[in-house]
Formats: sequence, structure tokens, C-alpha cells
Amino acid sequence: MKILFIGDVVGSPGRDMVEQYLPALKEKYKPHVTIINGENAAAGKGITEKIYKQFLQWGAQVITMGNHTWAKKEIFEFIDDAKYMIRPANFPENNPGEGMVFLKLNGMEIAVINIQGRTFLPAIDDPFAKIDKLIDQAQKRTNIIFVDFHAEVTSEKQAMGYFVDGRVSAIVGTHTHVQTSDERILPQGTAYITDVGMTGPYDAILGVEKETILKKFVTGLPVRHEVDKKGRTQLSAVLMTIDDKTGKAAAVERILINPDHPFFR
Ligand code: FE2
Repeated sequence: MKILFIGDVVGSPGRDMVEQYLPALKEKYKPHVTIINGENAAAGKGITEKIYKQFLQWGAQVITMGNHTWAKKEIFEFIDDAKYMIRPANFPENNPGEGMVFLKLNGMEIAVINIQGRTFLPAIDDPFAKIDKLIDQAQKRTNIIFVDFHAEVTSEKQAMGYFVDGRVSAIVGTHTHVQTSDERILPQGTAYITDVGMTGPYDAILGVEKETILKKFVTGLPVRHEVDKKGRTQLSAVLMTIDDKTGKAAAVERILINPDHPFFR
């Protein structure tokens, strides 16, 4: 099974990149399942029902979230109906939504899990204890398990990678918005990358207007973050190939489309 994962889509520039390039990516890589991290998709924070439906319409099957899950209030209205959107599973018990979803594809089944780190992010439940439980639950149905670990710190992401190595097919990091060049297959057969990177503004700071962030660092004054809409754009993704029978990873490949790495040459 081939899994295409598109990293943190930021605002309308990111959504435009998905709409423009997802058909070509599908044509080239022929993924069986496409997963998008959409927690920054609405104006940089959160997601709306319209955007969730657009992602599905453009060819994604599952949308994962992160620390900005609740940023747009309307999510409370539609999250129970959004069967293919998951939020971090280690949010406090009784939070709306689910942290794991199963998807059936041509006789195969994949479990998709979203969890979130705790270092330099809100103090939510233990992601290590939570993922143990979810893996046990998922393995009763399938050995193809994909994890989006939304976390700030490289060491926490690497630790989680080794923690689940051999028990999940792939684990990718999201949230830090810069693609890392450490994609690999861990010793027990799990595909891993510390961060997939961001889909959205290229001439900006993590997707936000650079002038705003510069002002914040130079003056120390509070600023309002706005998604950069005037510059060039990029798309960050990872393609993973999983052995259907064993659930182990056979390959992991980084994909980066930006002015310095054009898709169409
Ligand atoms: Fe995030």
C-alpha cells in the first residue's frame, strides 16, 4: 500500500497548492490513500467544514489535526459528522471527535492515528501511554497503521519513532513546518520522518508574513499573525510504501515542491 501524506496546509496559499498539485502527485505516485494535516488550513489556525469537504473532494481520504484543532468555533458543530477528520487522540477524555479512524481500501484496511507531543505544547494526556492502547486496538483489525505525531520537539518525535518501531507501518512528524531530511526506515520496519514540512507560503516565516514575525523578534511587542498571501508557495509531503501482508515499510520518500524544487521540470 502506498500512503501519500501532505504536511501542514497553511491558509488559502496552502489549499491552492493542494488543489493544484494533488492530481499530479496522484498521477505520478499512485497512492492508495492520501492523508492531509489540516490544522492550519483555515487562515493559519483551525479548519472549517467547507475546507474539510474540499480536501475530500480534491482526493484526500483522511484529515489529521493538531494543537489548533479548536481554533475555529464551527468545528464543534461538524466534528461529530466529519468521520474522516481525526484530532490528537491524547486530548482529554470526553473531548469531541476521535483520534483514530479505520479506512477500507480494496480489501485492505488502514488505521490512521493522530497524537500530539507535550513538550512546549499544552499539557495534554501522555502520548506514549495513549498510543500503546491505540496500537493494541488497531492491531486487532489490521497491521497497516499510520501515525501523524504532531509535536514541537525533535527529540520527542525521535523517541516516539523508536517507541512504536515495528508496531506501526509509518510515523511522520508534523507541526514545525520545515521538512527534515532524515526520512528512514527504523530498525524494526517503521517508516519515519521527524517533520514532513509545510504546504503554503514560501517567502514567509512558518507560513506567517515575515514582516510580522520580524517585528515580534526585533521589538518584543505583541503582533497579530497573518498568513502570507503575497509571496511564492510550496508543498511538502512524504510517500510511504508499505508491505500489505507484514505492515512493514518498504520505502519512504520526501516530496518538496517549491520554486527551488519545481515539480514540473
Ligand atoms: Fe501545530
